[in-house]
Amino acid sequence: MKTIEIQQLSKSFNSGKMLLPVFYDITLTVKSGEFVSLIGPSGAGKSTILKIVAGIDAPDSGEIKFDNNSDNGRDLTSNRKAIISYVPQHPALMPWLTVFQNVRFPLELVKMSKGDMIDNTLKALELVDMAAYANLLPHQLSGGMQQRVSLARALVSGPEVLLLDEPFSALDEVTRSNLQQVLWRICKSLNLTALMVTHSISEAVTLSDRVLVLSNKPTKIIAENSIALPIKNMERDTSCLAFFKSVQDIRKCLH
Ligand SMILES: Nc1ncnc2c1ncn2[C@@H]1O[C@H](COP(=O)(O)OP(=O)(O)O)[C@@H](O)[C@H]1O
Ligand SMILES: [Mg+2]
Repeated sequence: MKTIEIQQLSKSFNSGKMLLPVFYDITLTVKSGEFVSLIGPSGAGKSTILKIVAGIDAPDSGEIKFDNNSDNGRDLTSNRKAIISYVPQHPALMPWLTVFQNVRFPLELVKMSKGDMIDNTLKALELVDMAAYANLLPHQLSGGMQQRVSLARALVSGPEVLLLDEPFSALDEVTRSNLQQVLWRICKSLNLTALMVTHSISEAVTLSDRVLVLSNKPTKIIAENSIALPIKNMERDTSCLAFFKSVQDIRKCLH
């Protein structure tokens, strides 16, 4: 599995007449199989960092590396698209395609036999408990179910790195906490390396092994919190004292 190394990343945007620095010198590592969250105020550059890691945007300076520990440290940065999946805030499903066809879609862009496509699509749907709804259209699903499909679509190509941009922020509280547990279970069972941005402290604590707190612009990492929560019935226990203590610690950093 892959390590993400973000080294001395800087980015400015041109806002009319002047250059607006968003962040500079952001350095962080997400270890293989680790779930790291970036939490910070709106406009801090969280989405921009993820887009740079995904290769959708370019930094002014700095580097992103993906190293494969089990492969003699071979740098797989050039192979970025094959190992990364990106889960956006809104599911962005194609309304004219069924659940099954939406999830299968990324596989149609690579060379794969029909049988393997069907197998992989079914496996991804099973991971998010959506196999029973394979023939429905997106408009027949609730928001939570649509986001499950979006997650299945991100998993179908067998990524090693998952990037998530506020994936559950449009959902109600109960649906959101169910999906957080589903995502946590999937990440740990597939040993995925995950980087998520969020502005929800409880979401960050529920899902993460480590939470990095970002400041206002120009953005820097101002704190790092390791999170250890007990596991109860295959879920992370969010009713324990450690959960509330972590939430409180991070809240203090954000003020
Ligand atoms: N393409 C762009 N052109 C100009 N400014 C941008 C662009 N994308 C983002 N910004 C600016 O960069 C800052 C960080 O944006 P973003 O990464 O979306 O923040 P966050 O996700 O933390 O809310 C914001 O001030 C935003 O206005
Ligand atoms: Mg954002």
